[in-house]
Amino acid sequence: MSRGRFVTFEGGEGTGKSTQVRLLASYLTQCGEDIIQTREPGGSPSAEDIRPLLVTGAADRWSPMAETLLFYAARVEHWREVIDPALARGAHVISDRFADSTMAYQAYAGGLDVKTIEGLHALALPGVEPDLTFVLDLPVDEGLKRAASRRDNETRFERKGREFHERLRRGFLEIAKHASKRCVVIDANQPIERVHAAVLDVLKTRPDFA
Ligand code: TMP
Repeated sequence: MSRGRFVTFEGGEGTGKSTQVRLLASYLTQCGEDIIQTREPGGSPSAEDIRPLLVTGAADRWSPMAETLLFYAARVEHWREVIDPALARGAHVISDRFADSTMAYQAYAGGLDVKTIEGLHALALPGVEPDLTFVLDLPVDEGLKRAASRRDNETRFERKGREFHERLRRGFLEIAKHASKRCVVIDANQPIERVHAAVLDVLKTRPDFA
């Protein structure tokens, strides 16, 4: 039995990741693939316990380092409890966010050193990275407008201000440039079905997914 593939969707607020994760998961399930759909922060019982600490409350409730360590505490459990076992049994895993989000939010936008995050990742999850990452790119104003129309209380990062979100968008594009074999940037400023079609077009070019 060969190991499954690990696919992630990344991007700023309101870029439509969750919708695209759902559409891709249902498409591949209909194709007969064994698919696990998951998300961060969360995705496993103990990581979901950590999630509310990170996504609710005052924007400045954590120091940048404490926040980063909480994201990694959740991620290590998510990997150990859900992602790694699924890949090991040959299922494909599609996750709404993974480690690139920490690099973009806590380093590029939040101000922590890129090398600090790289070092933490190497310590916590050595050698772990997705096989393929879709970075959904959208102008900040449009993303924040879409995010504001959702009715939930998970707004801690949405409230961080426009400059934060501009740095975040540039951060994701920078990450995609540095990891250009793994990452594909998709224009998210188009109808949902068009974005989904662009995702499928990319999959068709990857022999290990075809
Ligand atoms: P979500 O809105 O995609 O569910 O993600 C929850 C929030 O957490 C979102 O505002 C992005 C933020 N986040 C980080 O800041 N760092 C991370 O490592 C992850 C996974 C999410």
